[in-house]
Amino acid sequence: MTDLTGLRLSYTRAELRRADLNPDPLAQFQGWLDEAIGAGLREPYALSLATADAEGRPSVRTVLLRGAEERGLTFYTNYDSHKGRDLGVNPRAEVLFHWPEHERQVRAYGPVERVPEEESAAYFRARPRQSQLAAHASDPQSAPIQDRGVLEAKFAELQARYPEGTPVPKPDFWGGYRVRVQEWEFWQGRRNRMHDRFRYVREGEGEGWRIERLMP
Ligand SMILES: Cc1cc2nc3c(=O)[nH]c(=O)nc-3n(C[C@H](O)[C@H](O)[C@H](O)COP(=O)(O)O)c2cc1C
Repeated sequence: MTDLTGLRLSYTRAELRRADLNPDPLAQFQGWLDEAIGAGLREPYALSLATADAEGRPSVRTVLLRGAEERGLTFYTNYDSHKGRDLGVNPRAEVLFHWPEHERQVRAYGPVERVPEEESAAYFRARPRQSQLAAHASDPQSAPIQDRGVLEAKFAELQARYPEGTPVPKPDFWGGYRVRVQEWEFWQGRRNRMHDRFRYVREGEGEGWRIERLMP
């Protein structure tokens, strides 16, 4: 394998000063995400989602951000998946965005709740038909299967059950989660590993945010 110890970059693209920060971390995040989308980065709305089970065993995977609002960061998945089971017993998560081309990462932590059924159904209806069928086919998500044929057969069966033109109902086991962010961290890479980091911590429900600079 390639020797990794000599592979390194210096981060020189930008700096982040306290004066640059939006007092509202959601607006700060939206600004950075918009820059990433505007720059044409590939799937900058993909995030790493870390959860843990009742024993504290962590697990992490990528999901797509489908909304970033005051009420939380939204993603959609299968409620019976590994992550769904984790969130059932331990409804808290940390999420991470990494935009290497911009030498930035954003972390957000908070309690997690399910998106109301009607809202999940509305989003499900807006998805491409093949994705709707795949959501049905991949159940229970994260469970072992014999081979790919099992999945393909389920998909074909679903195509027959819901021919073109008939609506595909949202499965009960599929829907959204929302991370109600209580803590944000914005990281901007700097030269010589002297990075800029700022954390926003919620002062209290309905109150403002305390901002602190962190050691890199
Ligand atoms: C770029 C990318 C986007 C993904 N988006 C989603 C998503 O929005 N929802 C989802 O359930 N899985 C998504 N996945 C698959 C998950 O990473 C994961 O494999 C799956 O949800 C099962 O995770 P679990 O077993 O930890 O529950 C995505 C994977 C990648 C690489």
